[in-house]
Amino acid sequence: MEPNALGLSRKLIAKVEPEANIFERYGVSSYLSLLAISVHPSMRQRRILVILSRCLFTLGRSRGHTLFITSGTNHYSSRSAMKAECECIHALAYADYKDDQGRPIYNPPAPHTQIRILASKM
Ligand SMILES: CC(C)(COP(=O)(O)OP(=O)(O)OC[C@H]1O[C@@H](n2cnc3c(N)ncnc32)[C@H](O)[C@@H]1OP(=O)(O)O)[C@@H](O)C(=O)NCCC(=O)NCCS
Repeated sequence: MEPNALGLSRKLIAKVEPEANIFERYGVSSYLSLLAISVHPSMRQRRILVILSRCLFTLGRSRGHTLFITSGTNHYSSRSAMKAECECIHALAYADYKDDQGRPIYNPPAPHTQIRILASKM
């Protein structure tokens, strides 16, 4: 929860994920949540995100989870999850996430313009 990229995104997810009413929407009492994957810049675009996400999905299913939730703060990770059949159940534009003085709190460069809460039954 420190004011670095990970801490800021954790705070954002802690605000936005409950707004998606996941328990009521899917009638579950628990779900598997992927908060963040970060791939070292030198290793990006080699399908590591895709492979790790698939492994997590398989592991979750083998442990009896029925619902997978991921919080897509990154345009590409969200797009990748939606390509893998996750549906977007809630979103917040970064332009609308502001502090008391109206300044944006989480302000990554385009194309990262919103956080999406993505869900898939397992
Ligand atoms: C987002 C991130 C995890 C992606 O990891 P990665 O291992 O490079 O992603 P993959 O190689 O598995 O690519 C997945 C898809 O996204 C696309 N993609 C990923 N990065 C991209 C980029 N910079 N530009 C265009 N497309 C990109 C890939 O082409 C692929 O698309 P496809 O399935 O249509 O072929 C990585 O860029 C990262 O660590 N970013 C910083 C941390 C972050 O924002 N994490 C996400 C928090 S939810």
